[in-house]
Amino acid sequence: MFSIKTLFPILPLMTVSVTTVNAWASDNHTCALTQPIYSCENSTQIVDTCCTPIQGLVLVTQFWDTYTGLEDQGSVLPKDSWTIHGLWPDRCDGSYGQYCDLSRQYDPVPSPNTTTGKSDGTPVPAWTGGDVITPLLQQYGKYDLLAYIQKYWKSQNSPDWTFWQHEFSKHATCFSTYDVGFEGVPDCYGSLYQNSTEASIIDFIQSVIKSQIQYPTYEWLAENEIKPSNQTGYKLFDIQNVLTQKSGGEPYLGCSGPTKQVLSEIWYYSHSLGRPQDSFLKPINQTTKSNCNQTQPIWYYERSQGSEY
Ligand SMILES: *[C@@H]1O[C@H](CO)[C@@H](O)[C@H](O)[C@H]1NC(C)=O
Ligand SMILES: *[C@@H]1O[C@H](CO)[C@@H](O)[C@H](O)[C@H]1NC(C)=O
Ligand SMILES: *[C@@H]1O[C@H](CO)[C@@H](O)[C@H](O)[C@H]1NC(C)=O
Ligand SMILES: *[C@@H]1O[C@H](CO)[C@@H](O)[C@H](O)[C@H]1NC(C)=O
Ligand SMILES: *[C@@H]1O[C@H](CO)[C@@H](O)[C@H](O)[C@H]1NC(C)=O
Ligand SMILES: *[C@@H]1O[C@H](CO)[C@@H](O)[C@H](O)[C@H]1NC(C)=O
Ligand SMILES: *[C@@H]1O[C@H](CO)[C@@H](O)[C@H](O)[C@H]1NC(C)=O
Repeated sequence: MFSIKTLFPILPLMTVSVTTVNAWASDNHTCALTQPIYSCENSTQIVDTCCTPIQGLVLVTQFWDTYTGLEDQGSVLPKDSWTIHGLWPDRCDGSYGQYCDLSRQYDPVPSPNTTTGKSDGTPVPAWTGGDVITPLLQQYGKYDLLAYIQKYWKSQNSPDWTFWQHEFSKHATCFSTYDVGFEGVPDCYGSLYQNSTEASIIDFIQSVIKSQIQYPTYEWLAENEIKPSNQTGYKLFDIQNVLTQKSGGEPYLGCSGPTKQVLSEIWYYSHSLGRPQDSFLKPINQTTKSNCNQTQPIWYYERSQGSEY
């Protein structure tokens, strides 16, 4: 645990508050005085990397799963809603980093297991300390965030917290606006929490939710009579068109199965006005190309019996 005694053993005034201690570490990165600019539109204008992400191609990503695999433990999917995958920091050219700050590694099953995904990359050690996010949100009274992610941020075949911590450690650590001072980068946080790592975790979860609720994929499709069906397939073009019109940019649609006909995920691309924390996202078109089958019907399957509530 964080302790003032161990960090500052010779400090004479033991009444000094945690707030004061952390205020010294603050580098004035509130961003309140920084004119927000759009990420990836003119990188030379970024003066504070806490205030505009260098990794400014911001992806809001979601899944359409038909089961969780842990139904017998009470884990079910939210009715009439896609589920959260994450909020990803791609670089402006479409490439991306992963596990960028190993001091914030809470993923029990790192995937890939090195920072480059290759055997010569830096190994990403498996986290063995269990669920960090649930107790943290409880400790700071963020029960609304916790309830939301318990319902909408669902893992498949593993407990949900493992997936939250995977997304945080793999992706959030690569966004410059959630930096906490690792290897010379700034510490974007002040004195709000016990330590900046805690601040960045809670901040990221809040950002994930704020961005996700701007993209109600299920409703957008349903309004246009595209509803889950095990009888009728849809044209990729029709799905793509609805979501492009509704979101304002052409998203990436991901399909699974041997012939890529099973609709399973979506990535919405955007540029962020200032910090992704503030969720002013300007939609842009995908920078890649959907992998779904262009010629065959696309299956937007109904959930399995007993898998949604
Ligand atoms: C900061 O908080 C995180 C999450 O609670 C914890 O894992 C870490 O050990 C803390 N760091 C320090 C220096 O206390
Ligand atoms: C933070 O801002 C205050 C008020 O402008 C200033 O006195 C202080 O030097 C700044 N600290 C850093 C590290 O820039
Ligand atoms: C980018 O910003 C810099 C600094 O403000 C400015 O000089 C330059 O003209 C801008 N470039 C474009 C393409 O807007
Ligand atoms: C990563 O996984 C591969 C394939 O399972 C394995 O061969 C390799 O030893 C692992 N590397 C590390 C650093 O754990
Ligand atoms: C689309 O489906 C057809 C017919 O099943 C198949 O031949 C083709 O390879 C599929 N395309 C992709 C991208 O999987
Ligand atoms: C985005 O894609 C749509 C549909 O494919 C196209 O009409 C539009 O021109 C594209 N916008 C940009 C900025 O490329
Ligand atoms: C619909 O089909 C999917 C894929 O085969 C299956 O997993 C699911 O259980 C089916 N749902 C219903 C309600 O039949």
